[in-house]
Amino acid sequence: SPIRPYATLSDTFVSETSELAGIEWDNLGFAFLSTDYMYVMKCAQGGSFSKGELQRFGNIELSPSAGVLNYGQGLFEGLKAYRKEDGTILLFRPEENALRMRLGAERMCMPSPTVEQFVEAVKATVLANKRWVPPPGKGSLYIRPLLMGSGAVLGLAPAPEYTFLIYVSPVGNYFKEGVAPINLIVEHELHRATPGGTGGVKTIGNYAAVLKAQSAAKAKGYSDVLYLDCVHKRYLEEVSSCNIFVVKDNVISTPAIKGTILPGITRKSIIDVARSEGLQVEERQVAVEDLLDADEVFCTGTAVVVSPVGSITYLGKRVCYGDGFGAVSEKLYSVLTRLQMGLSEDKMDWTVEL
Ligand code: COI
Repeated sequence: SPIRPYATLSDTFVSETSELAGIEWDNLGFAFLSTDYMYVMKCAQGGSFSKGELQRFGNIELSPSAGVLNYGQGLFEGLKAYRKEDGTILLFRPEENALRMRLGAERMCMPSPTVEQFVEAVKATVLANKRWVPPPGKGSLYIRPLLMGSGAVLGLAPAPEYTFLIYVSPVGNYFKEGVAPINLIVEHELHRATPGGTGGVKTIGNYAAVLKAQSAAKAKGYSDVLYLDCVHKRYLEEVSSCNIFVVKDNVISTPAIKGTILPGITRKSIIDVARSEGLQVEERQVAVEDLLDADEVFCTGTAVVVSPVGSITYLGKRVCYGDGFGAVSEKLYSVLTRLQMGLSEDKMDWTVEL
């Protein structure tokens, strides 16, 4: 029988080969499947991470008073590993995730692994779970590094101990639409981030904060929510789980990074790919009115890769962009994913082979 998307407690500790045989590689969505090993490394406040280890994947023990549970002192990252036809595995820009975690850790008063420790830990975790990397063309192994205040606190303060942990799960398409365009609704009351806040780092609370608007949107049949800036309520920020791009007359625009928008690694890579393809890219304030006459709109993120937007609804008015990729987004999607999957020469030197 096909493997269940959510593992039971006993599944968590036993990953038999038969479980793997039960995976429907053609129907992977974006749901958690437990794998064999996770990586764990700890350090004290004021100290530095030194030696981590691979452990069997399973539940972790935390004090009910842990900083992450009580005061949200936590960060996460997301990156993917792809299997090539020759069996080798490719990671995509893991050092970028390491650097982003270090910036986030500074904002959240946490120690963080060095770039080298992070990348080595990612490699070790992927290799230990190698059998869970989907066959070529069937998806990827999503890698989820976490950094959390695991020590006990009661008064509001940085936790006395930190845990860096990596787990992995095989994934396919993020949106239930698959590769079909997504339908977004612009949220004009709730905001994802504020100037001076933590919107620009990958802290766990940013994601809890969008659940209410996202759930309401999904209940109305939308795929996700597009947020506006909280000062003018006019400029695009990002979607709950990804960055946004607008194409008009072959010029690609995306909201500039200014502290309230997550500096996406796919966002940055798409900008570089577009420029290397001779396209003009502007990082600027993008007003909600710019959506009205756009030729194409698309989203980028590790989980969503490059997803075309089919429609955007704002204050009851729906603007449609087509029923598939536009020419620009299709080109960018193709160049990026071929590079990530090892199907084209990596002129950018972005992939790391295992
Ligand atoms: C990712 O794209 O890797 C993210 O972290 C977004 C998450 C909501 C799945």
